[in-house]
Amino acid sequence: MRKKIVAGNWKMNNGLSETIELINDLKQNLSDSDVKVMIAPSYPFLKTAVDQVGDGSIEVISQNINDNKSGAYTGEVSIDMLNSIGVNTTLIGHSERRAYYNEDDALLLKKINLALESNMDIIFCFGEELKDRKSNSYFDIVKAQLENTVMKLEPNSWKNIVLAYEPVWAIGTGETASAEQAQEIHKFVRNCISEHFSSEIADNVPILYGGSVKPSNAVEIFNKKDVDGGLIGGAALNAHDFVEIIKANN
Ligand code: PGA
Repeated sequence: MRKKIVAGNWKMNNGLSETIELINDLKQNLSDSDVKVMIAPSYPFLKTAVDQVGDGSIEVISQNINDNKSGAYTGEVSIDMLNSIGVNTTLIGHSERRAYYNEDDALLLKKINLALESNMDIIFCFGEELKDRKSNSYFDIVKAQLENTVMKLEPNSWKNIVLAYEPVWAIGTGETASAEQAQEIHKFVRNCISEHFSSEIADNVPILYGGSVKPSNAVEIFNKKDVDGGLIGGAALNAHDFVEIIKANN
């Protein structure tokens, strides 16, 4: 049985007091469930968030890592720093990193390898742009994004990887992929992994959907066979909506 995961990517939102308040609201409203809940606040608040969630069921994760171990990289944050405050999972390859910070597949692979060497688990994001969807080249684009990165890993690394399909045209736009569109790609990706590695690895890797997930569409999307939860942006900033989305997995 694959793990169900709902991860909230707070992006560059929430100061200190909002971080504490949102975590407290989540803790009060989360009921026991089999869903793994993660939140990704901004760097300055990660340690506070780790302390605030305590031993409960929420895992605090990072939105990004630097691709170097340590050294003269002004303004950057290393994996070891994150590990030292109890953050042991990171997003890699979010479309905003790709688009605004020019993170290409080669850099993402470097980050993935360094993370895995450093005991940091990964949620690896991928997904096509609107032009790729319109020109019907989205299968090729998605396949290439994976072949240039996670498909180069050792089979053993997959136990530390979660994938997140995030069609760029659906992120923060209010536009959602239909449940069928999500399922189509998730199944395709699982088939690619099965062909490249094994059906066992393909069956075990959680694949999340991200892109304008809301309480109103979460149940339909999460009900699809190959969708194992979601990576949530905007709706993760509201405790009520985020909790409803988590419950949509039950
Ligand atoms: P959104 O963002 O839910 O606001 O569309 C998703 C994401 O970027 O992970």
